[in-house]
Amino acid sequence: MSNVMAVKTDNLIKTFSGMEVIKGCNIHVPKGCIYGLLGANGAGKTTIFKLLMGFLIPTAGEIEILSMDVMSSQNEILKNIGSIIEVPVFYEHLSASENLEIHLAYMDIVGDIPSILDMVGLKATNMQPVSKYSLGMRQRLGIARALVHKPKLLILDEPINGLDPMGIREMRELLIRLKDEQDMTIVISSHILSEMEHVADIVGIIVNGVVVEEITLSEVKKQFPNGLEDYFFNIMNGGAKLV
Ligand SMILES: Nc1ncnc2c1ncn2[C@@H]1O[C@H](COP(=O)(O)OP(=O)(O)O)[C@@H](O)[C@H]1O
Ligand SMILES: [Mg+2]
Repeated sequence: MSNVMAVKTDNLIKTFSGMEVIKGCNIHVPKGCIYGLLGANGAGKTTIFKLLMGFLIPTAGEIEILSMDVMSSQNEILKNIGSIIEVPVFYEHLSASENLEIHLAYMDIVGDIPSILDMVGLKATNMQPVSKYSLGMRQRLGIARALVHKPKLLILDEPINGLDPMGIREMRELLIRLKDEQDMTIVISSHILSEMEHVADIVGIIVNGVVVEEITLSEVKKQFPNGLEDYFFNIMNGGAKLV
């Protein structure tokens, strides 16, 4: 992990029809880490990710991605981000390789499809149509597609939602491998405490549109040997600030 920030927001605010949904968020994601944005359904995780990607325009505040301003450098930033924000959509009757071929052609880039599929634990030789894939395989194919342009930053909204225990384990191993082997910075959201514990280096806790705490997992474990759950409920019960 480095001191250089891959993502930094300053007093980020987003209102929808006069309703403030993101209420002054300050997020700090160091390069090379897995950052978990943890919060209940409706807390604002997806909205924040859409703001980071430039899909939504902030009502106020600043966003810096890889030291660039999101508003003025959106194209340059998008070249360096891979993301899955909504459920990934594929050509169901085609194989994983064929889906990636179409994507590469559309993006007008050259990529090594077998090695990308290998990286996410799918086989280029698997000619099954995607319609036969498990949810976990679909998520991993979505990540493969998000990786073809070799992004430095990967943003995944609830990547383990709906996965079975095997799928969750495979996803966890994949994320850690991407961080370790590709030096990628990964931002994921989840409302599942135990999962973040297994994969994140840092968690940001979001409650009703505010990131109330950012803390490293090692610090959580030092203060709460039983882990993230005790830490989280301490915060939710208005516990003392820990950092
Ligand atoms: N386009 C929108 N228009 C109005 N309200 C929205 C819109 N998108 C999200 N919201 C509201 O913002 C809040 C946060 O939503 P969201 O970011 O999807 O939360 P999360 O991803 O943490 O479940 C919710 O109350 C949701 O209803
Ligand atoms: Mg969401």
